[in-house]
Amino acid sequence: MKPERVSTGSLPLDDLLGGGLERRTITQIYGEPASGKSTLCLMAVVASLRAGNSVIYIDTEGFSVERFKQIAGENAGQLANRLYLFEPIDFAQQGTMIADAEGLLRKSDGAPVDLLVMDSATALYRTELDLGREAVRKLSHHMIRLLGLAKKYDIPVLITNQIYMDVERDRVAGLGGTALEHISKAIIRLEKKDSIRRAMLRKHRSRPEGLSFDFVITKNGIRTV
Ligand SMILES: Nc1ncnc2c1ncn2[C@@H]1O[C@H](COP(=O)(O)OP(=O)(O)O)[C@@H](O)[C@H]1O
Ligand SMILES: [Mg+2]
Repeated sequence: MKPERVSTGSLPLDDLLGGGLERRTITQIYGEPASGKSTLCLMAVVASLRAGNSVIYIDTEGFSVERFKQIAGENAGQLANRLYLFEPIDFAQQGTMIADAEGLLRKSDGAPVDLLVMDSATALYRTELDLGREAVRKLSHHMIRLLGLAKKYDIPVLITNQIYMDVERDRVAGLGGTALEHISKAIIRLEKKDSIRRAMLRKHRSRPEGLSFDFVITKNGIRTV
């Protein structure tokens, strides 16, 4: 039997999440630009690749090969052979590529996919925001399909989310509204103050909200401070 939780490649993040990413659920990381979302995603990717698995990465913000190489280290080239990268350029493609991802999950030859990342889930959504409720409906649909894949193939799904200023409530909030909040079983918020970042638990099924740790971003990932 597969372990219930999958390591994020970061001990403090695993601890925060109660042991790692939970299978059959969506974990969300949200925060401002440069807060460390993609770094944490890549660390989880590299951990899964190092464990011998394949990984699906849907990148809507421009995948940085250089950053992957830094985090993966010496064996980057070899590890990259098992990384399936999708780079949708619009919201419709984002949907198509979720379908393509299922094709890979179904494949029985080669190293099994043990993690699916979507970084970010809302960059392309943002470009459709003027469509209002239609955009929300489409985003929800994508998320429901991702959750379906997580359940059907017994893998964790990790998504990132951007933030906006909620002027009515005078606070920053994750994009995608309650739909994205409800469908994510665990949510982590990243905050950035000068070079120090804080990762804080915002939602979890069995851990108290508000737990956190501080870190800096380094060449090969993060380091707690
Ligand atoms: N090799 C590195 N060493 C230290 N910091 C780095 C390195 N590479 C990128 N960074 C820092 O990481 C931050 C971007 O992190 P990233 O995970 O891409 O954020 P996000 O995805 O939230 O926008 C930037 O502040 C950048 O300066
Ligand atoms: Mg990013």
